[in-house]
Amino acid sequence: MSARVAILISGSGSNMVALADSMTGDHPARPCLVLSNVPGAAGLARAAERGIPTATVDHRPFRGDRAAFEDALQAELDRATPDIVCLAGFMRVLTPAFVARWQGRMLNIHPSLLPLYPGLDTHARALAAGDAEHGCTVHEVTAVLDHGPILGQARLRVLPQDTAQSLATRVLAQEHRLYPAVLRRFAMGERGRIDIA
Ligand code: GRF
Repeated sequence: MSARVAILISGSGSNMVALADSMTGDHPARPCLVLSNVPGAAGLARAAERGIPTATVDHRPFRGDRAAFEDALQAELDRATPDIVCLAGFMRVLTPAFVARWQGRMLNIHPSLLPLYPGLDTHARALAAGDAEHGCTVHEVTAVLDHGPILGQARLRVLPQDTAQSLATRVLAQEHRLYPAVLRRFAMGERGRIDIA
């Protein structure tokens, strides 16, 4: 019986595509829902093209009432009955109460080598710090933003000519390799960390 995976997005969904396209053949999981907080997010069409059920819960009408927004998210997830939830470019901060419902079953990909640079603007911060290495991290989601147990990291050398944009592009390519690799292991019950170059 395949594990059911819900993927939460806010934009282009390139990580969602990488995850969805990896879940074939003998992969122990299959996508069951792509859920966006942004109506018309490009990733929704990419999911629909793949025959994956989609839903939208626009956060704006909730006017900052995070609990009410998350109750609406939960209602969509209850309908899809996922075993695993993957945050993939999902740009809303989740409350500890919501995370507690999914702790141990929710993953996120973050574009830095955590614990370095939690939060935003990670590429510019790595450049400003003069870091020789940069990359991305897949971690379990816990109540503290971008601080859960690390399940995998992908590293790359920062090049002298790199800009925040060129770095973001190269890190994104690494995300598309790392996230599927971690999800496959996670769906098989493996929790050991992997590192890819
Ligand atoms: C990217 O910046 C990625 O680093 C982060 O979310 C953003 C959008 O990713 N994880 P996606 O193309 O929507 O997956």
